[in-house]
Amino acid sequence: MEKAPKTIKESASVTHDIVHPGDTNSYGIAFGGYLMGLLDKAACIAVRRHCTNRVATVAIDGVRFFNPAKVGYILDIKASINRVFNSSMEVGVKVTGTPLEKTESIDICKAYITFVALDKEGKPSPIAPVIPETDDEKRRFEEALVRRETRKHP
Ligand SMILES: CC(C)(COP(=O)(O)OP(=O)(O)OC[C@H]1O[C@@H](n2cnc3c(N)ncnc32)[C@H](O)[C@@H]1OP(=O)(O)O)[C@@H](O)C(=O)NCCC(=O)NCCS
Repeated sequence: MEKAPKTIKESASVTHDIVHPGDTNSYGIAFGGYLMGLLDKAACIAVRRHCTNRVATVAIDGVRFFNPAKVGYILDIKASINRVFNSSMEVGVKVTGTPLEKTESIDICKAYITFVALDKEGKPSPIAPVIPETDDEKRRFEEALVRRETRKHP
């Protein structure tokens, strides 16, 4: 059955966290694994809002760490679906952080996470396409196709 397309903003998610000492290494800087966990969870929320299927992560790429996130930083984690292909979809996730005693945020990290929707038997299952509306959404939509080709033929 054809699935009705949905806008990207319908599923986009924004979550927050604060860097605690237990999230950091001996230099007081957030572990990469902790940040990756935040990226993965935020992406999952966007995916769960877009489709009700069970999903599996099949690829995480384009991971970049721009600036260290130190103890006390407030983190904003934004995730949105860049493009749905057939059963798979690419989600773009970015973390920005606001240092202690500051009001302006800086870029911390970003990644592209690809999920596959599964049916009740655990087989890949088609999902509703997304409708890019803004200029940024349209750019990400086009770029996601290029990244998909690179993933297939690295
Ligand atoms: C998800 C899974 C069932 C898909 O099975 P599969 O045999 O790879 O399925 P297919 O080859 O038919 O591919 C299904 C879709 O995934 C995409 N895909 C598969 N591997 C991919 C990869 N490494 N990167 C990007 N997309 C990928 C395919 O392009 C296809 O997309 P489309 O339907 O939109 O065209 C299987 O790969 C799996 O179980 N992987 C482990 C998942 C997991 O444990 N993740 C970690 C915890 S969630």
